Amino acid sequence: MSPFAPTVTLNNGQKMPILGLGTWLSREGEAVETVKAAIDAGYRHIDTAYLYGNEKEVGQAIREKITEGVIKREDIFVTTKLWNGFHDPENVEEAFNRSLANLNIDYIDLYLMHTPMSYKFVAWEPENPDAASVPEFTEVDYVDTWRAMEKLLNGGKVRSIGVSNFNSEQIGRIVKEYTVKPVTNQVECNPGLNQRKLIEFCKNLDITITAYSPLGRPNYYEKDPKNTPKPALDDVRVAEIAKKYGKTPGQIILRYLVDIGTIPVPKSANEQRLRQNIDIFDFKLTEAEIKVMDGFNNGKRTVPFALCASHKFYPFNSEY
Ligand code: A2P
Repeated sequence: MSPFAPTVTLNNGQKMPILGLGTWLSREGEAVETVKAAIDAGYRHIDTAYLYGNEKEVGQAIREKITEGVIKREDIFVTTKLWNGFHDPENVEEAFNRSLANLNIDYIDLYLMHTPMSYKFVAWEPENPDAASVPEFTEVDYVDTWRAMEKLLNGGKVRSIGVSNFNSEQIGRIVKEYTVKPVTNQVECNPGLNQRKLIEFCKNLDITITAYSPLGRPNYYEKDPKNTPKPALDDVRVAEIAKKYGKTPGQIILRYLVDIGTIPVPKSANEQRLRQNIDIFDFKLTEAEIKVMDGFNNGKRTVPFALCASHKFYPFNSEY
């Protein structure tokens, strides 16, 4: 039988599986097959975004699995995200409706503000994630965008709202000024950037941390080792722990992230790794092993949003 991820109860009572499939850079044509294989492998939480340009494929895969009788809509937790170009409160509802239409499912479980930084609205097409040019920034305040996101909850087409790439001050401002708390803050989190302080800060507010790039983007390191932090995947200390449990290094890293209280969303287009990545719920690291894994923390980001460093709301200048 396929392994299933347990769920966590969010601060609004909704339940979210504590491991999901990330789909960033799932290439066109690849996303449908990957998401279908993931559902067959037991995944019940899929993470996409308007930016990724694959909402249609993700939705198609989910609908096909519903038609096949493998899942019912309520069995699967679907997250997508509001892109930076749509932060003007006037654009939020339209952006949401476009994502919903792309996914073509009855409702979205979780809608996240992709970052606190607003760009000038250009068009409703997906942004090009590889664009080398610096986007034109605007100063739309993310708390105003949040207020517009809160209103979406009244329409019944989204069950939870949250944020992504927010620092502790930005989270604090939202919590202070508004009635609906984000259910999660989705941030880069892996052994090299283990986010212990942000996890603790958010935990005290009953906000979960979703961990993107949980494996530290080994594909980036392969391509550009000079400018990318070395992921822990190939380290002998991880290999030793893996050997003890009869698991792979990737599984040890994902288990570590669960053990420190996050919800990892690893991406894989490889069926074997896809299956391995969710097969982490039959063991637990000891405190000593968690300490070893903590030793990889160096605070370096593989996703620093360097093009946005001068944005008024750039989140990564504060400590956490
Ligand atoms: P692939 O799709 O060929 O499996 P992250 O989630 O940190 O961004 O990392 C995603 C990258 O890590 C992808 O390139 C993926 O490649 C690779 N990957 C996914 N799962 C594993 C694993 N268990 N071990 C090693 N590499 C993995």
